[in-house]
Amino acid sequence: MFQRLREDIACILERDPAARSRWEVLTCYPGLHALVLHRAAHACWRRGWRWLGRFISHIARFLTGIEIHPGATIGRRVFIDHGMGVVIGEMAEIGDDCTIYQGVTLGGTSLVKGAKRHPTLEAGVIVGANACVLGGFTVGAGARVGSNAVVTKAVPAGATAVGNPARIIEVQADAEREAAAARMGFSAYGVTQGDDPVAQAMKGLIDSAAGHEHQIALLWQAVSTLSQGQRQDCVPEGAQQAECFDAAGLSRLVK
Ligand SMILES: CC(C)(COP(=O)(O)OP(=O)(O)OC[C@H]1O[C@@H](n2cnc3c(N)ncnc32)[C@H](O)[C@@H]1OP(=O)(O)O)[C@@H](O)C(=O)NCCC(=O)NCCS
Repeated sequence: MFQRLREDIACILERDPAARSRWEVLTCYPGLHALVLHRAAHACWRRGWRWLGRFISHIARFLTGIEIHPGATIGRRVFIDHGMGVVIGEMAEIGDDCTIYQGVTLGGTSLVKGAKRHPTLEAGVIVGANACVLGGFTVGAGARVGSNAVVTKAVPAGATAVGNPARIIEVQADAEREAAAARMGFSAYGVTQGDDPVAQAMKGLIDSAAGHEHQIALLWQAVSTLSQGQRQDCVPEGAQQAECFDAAGLSRLVK
């Protein structure tokens, strides 16, 4: 028990730049108090002492402003920062090293008893202030949920979800698209705003052009392999240049 408490205090000192000492963390962090009381409530719940579990959870809510159902499963080194207004549902599962800010709801949208109504957060997930994660899906390891986001679908590991309804910020896909566009001499800087339909169409076009460029490169490789030792005049002179992606033309179109 003391080992886990030490671990909890250490993780708060690590993750909150405002935390100054172990004593301060032990005495002034409601997130820590809520988790310690939750462990007692959860132990009661698992032994079948349901009312006592609920009652401890109710006292914890009264003292900390954090409501954790005694049935919720919470891993190690979880940090609930500030905590006021946090609600964690019965079927919620929170993996190790997760961070949850004030006002977060890990709730459900269905009223079916016994079903997995609440989300699972895998290890290292960060849920920003006032975000709602609603449903029995999984938020993958290391994912981040932006403050005020409303998430109703699974979030892949390592992804960032923002907005209402939440969308995934495709950092990697955007970077690859930029690289492909840069190779073709086309600037995609103007088309990275997520929700604009014209921008979406342009992204599709650039992805498709990059795919074609790749296919053509493979074809040229195959043609030159096949034509080795054969007639060289079977490849029309200048054909490669003529088939090139017209980056300048595309740039003119979107100006
Ligand atoms: C979601 C979050 C983790 C993203 O951080 P990041 O990876 O550094 O992302 P960036 O700041 O580079 O922003 C990337 C894009 O997402 C948008 N974005 C970031 N956070 C957002 C949010 N909460 N809601 C809506 N959009 C958001 C940015 O405007 C930007 O959009 P753009 O590419 O169209 O310009 C962070 O913004 C966040 O909300 N953290 C929670 C912090 C918190 O709750 N703190 C409480 C302290 S008390």
